[in-house]
Amino acid sequence: LQADLLAQIAAADTPDALEAVRVAAMGKQGQVTQLLKTLGGMSPEDRAVAGPAFNGLREAITAALAAKKAALDEAALNAKLAAEKQDMTLPVSLPATGTIHPISQVMDELAGIFADLGFAVASGPEIEDDWHNFTALNIPESHPARAMHDTFYIDGQPNMVLRTHTSPVQIRTMVGQKPPIRIIAPGRVYRSDSDATHTPMFHQIEGLVIDKGITLAHLRWTLETFIKAFFEVDDVVLRFRPSYFPFTEPSVEVDVGYSAKTGKPAGQGQVDKWLEVLGSGMVHPRVIAACGLDPNEWQGFAFGTGVDRLAMLKYGLTDLRAFFDGDIKWLKHNGFSA
Ligand code: PHE
Repeated sequence: LQADLLAQIAAADTPDALEAVRVAAMGKQGQVTQLLKTLGGMSPEDRAVAGPAFNGLREAITAALAAKKAALDEAALNAKLAAEKQDMTLPVSLPATGTIHPISQVMDELAGIFADLGFAVASGPEIEDDWHNFTALNIPESHPARAMHDTFYIDGQPNMVLRTHTSPVQIRTMVGQKPPIRIIAPGRVYRSDSDATHTPMFHQIEGLVIDKGITLAHLRWTLETFIKAFFEVDDVVLRFRPSYFPFTEPSVEVDVGYSAKTGKPAGQGQVDKWLEVLGSGMVHPRVIAACGLDPNEWQGFAFGTGVDRLAMLKYGLTDLRAFFDGDIKWLKHNGFSA
């Protein structure tokens, strides 16, 4: 019987098969169990002989079952490890990444274009004080322009606002560094205004040049150069319309001649509509003086334009709200990529 059972144990090649052998041998009705039960009915002499033999059998089978179980467990573990083995030398597939947001991309493009023209990038806080956002820009208290800006004020801080434009960076730059100055300042601005074409947060890029003998002609050349580079066109016509900003004098609003056919800015003769793209002008002498500079010595121009609008024009986007949805599919479809 022992040899037979040991052979069965050796032949059991799965945990289930081994369990079946165990039950057949050591279970309640098992052969070994039955055999052990016969000891009770034996004479003491017979039991003295059979007892050690049967118990030896039981121990041998128990040990063989345990050894086989350990062997099967180890084999199972090895098989599992082999199945889960990772080839660390395989090339890694990169996880899906986000894309550059069109606004960020346009701001980067603009920074690159202006860097070529010698403009550094300047910045300022989005929570701005009244003096930088208004007063130093020749917008004193009770000036109607303050109301026009739909300003967000900060609760409990009467002198703090969310900056309504990037123009306070002009002030910070003129106060903080000596002319000559050539900077652009891209960033977020806030106005309490929300409809299909306005969002309460939007993006502007400010430009400022302060030097000696700067004129509107420099402004015109700079804007033409930037519009051509940004829209990747060879020719452009700009229309300067007289306008009013408290911090520039004279002030001009600039329209770009646009061709409906190409959907891009175009040169003389190909223009069929005008698009307003920015506000600008010669920096008001009072603004220069408010920053501690002598307006008789230093002059300059400034401009400010909406980045969101430039992005829409360049990439043919129609819905401002898409900028804020954060839809990766939309970003990818529109060709924005890292
Ligand atoms: N700050 C103005 C605006 O937000 C734009 C501007 C900037 C105009 C610089 C003139 C000069 O509308």
